[in-house]
Amino acid sequence: MNSFTYCVPTKVYFGTNQLCHLGEELKRFGKRVLLTYGGGSIKKSGLYDAVVSEIRGAGLELYELSGIAPNPRIDSVREGAKLCKEKKIDVLLAVGGGSTIDATKWMAAGACVEHDPWDFFSKWSPVEKALPVCSVLTLSATGSEMNGGGVVSNPETKDKIGRVESILRPRVSFLDPSATFSVSKYQTACGAADILSHIFEEYFTTEKDLYMLDCCMEGLMKTVIRYAPIAMENPTDYEARANLMWASSWALNGFVNGGKQHSWSCHSMEHELSAFYDITHGLGLAILTPRWLEHCLNEKTLFKYVQFGVNVFGIDPALEPLAIAKKSIQMLSDFFFKTLGLDDTLTKIGIGEENFSVMAKKACGGGTIEGFVPLNEKDIETIFKACL
Ligand code: NZQ
Ligand code: ZN
Repeated sequence: MNSFTYCVPTKVYFGTNQLCHLGEELKRFGKRVLLTYGGGSIKKSGLYDAVVSEIRGAGLELYELSGIAPNPRIDSVREGAKLCKEKKIDVLLAVGGGSTIDATKWMAAGACVEHDPWDFFSKWSPVEKALPVCSVLTLSATGSEMNGGGVVSNPETKDKIGRVESILRPRVSFLDPSATFSVSKYQTACGAADILSHIFEEYFTTEKDLYMLDCCMEGLMKTVIRYAPIAMENPTDYEARANLMWASSWALNGFVNGGKQHSWSCHSMEHELSAFYDITHGLGLAILTPRWLEHCLNEKTLFKYVQFGVNVFGIDPALEPLAIAKKSIQMLSDFFFKTLGLDDTLTKIGIGEENFSVMAKKACGGGTIEGFVPLNEKDIETIFKACL
């Protein structure tokens, strides 16, 4: 295995009644707070009032930016960066899911430069400074609450690009599972698929890995498989929501990576689906993942499917390895499409093959995704077609 550095300085307040620490934490960074949120779910749930009351109670100055869309747009980032400059914002507070937190991170970076924030993605302009970001998470999915990643869409260029910069990692995150009670069945299912995919992207590798990390990843997967259906059935089940929330953070805060060097495959392909068709990230991943696993199955990768099938789905290890591998893909498909009730084909969500070749080219940057198995344009197009 490779050497690595691990440093996750996000302070986490986990559980109910933790919001009472919000004011004191924000105060550490200054006086002027920019509160960012999405389309209004936090107003319906009452979280907005609770957050505003804490901010005001701490004597801080409050500014707001709302309307951040799922698959957040660069326009929101531009607006936020401008507001930060105009109002001399000291700290940004994102209250929402991954879209709100991601966009807010890039507002924080955009506030410290003179160029267009899209340059961070189109020209890979350096991120040397950023205002501090804190978050109050409302949806268990992306891990954005504890990582430095942020994915932004540009509808004009049909691009959806992610970039990770540790300087953008939230300084403090409030993780109250009850803030996710109001998440719909559909978004709970998509969130579960996203968490699983973050683990799969690291787990399915032919690189030599730490046994300890494989065990942790299998535990995280089993947690999602156990609790997502419970949360969908009973949205106010605290234990289920808590397990999903903490799993979402640990699936993508760098911990399970453990120095692995390979690229992510399903995310590269899914970002093209979201960029062209604005679909929910987790849904795209659920449709792609079983087809990707089928595509990658070969003599060299077989052992990993066997490990997955036996340890995660409890398949009988006495069966033939290939039978275990095929059964594990089938059981995963059943979980996504029967248990979680997600649509199982791109056709069902109105996506045809018209853009597949250009999407495939963009997904691999015209070269190869060096993932579980290397994927070139043709491989990616084949996987997209298998999803129809
Ligand atoms: O906008 P509001 O009104 O808040 O409604 C949202 C939105 O419609 C709603 N929602 C969120 N919390 C809720 C709630 N509804 C009721 N009750 C609550 N408590 O759910 C909808 C989806 O929200 P969104 O933030 O888009 O979902 P998610 O957290 O799945 O974020 C998806 C975005 O994150 C990116 C994805 O590509 C996508 O753009 N990702 C970010 C990553 C990262 N930063 O590391 C990694 C991921 O792989 C992913 O790419
Ligand atoms: Zn994801």
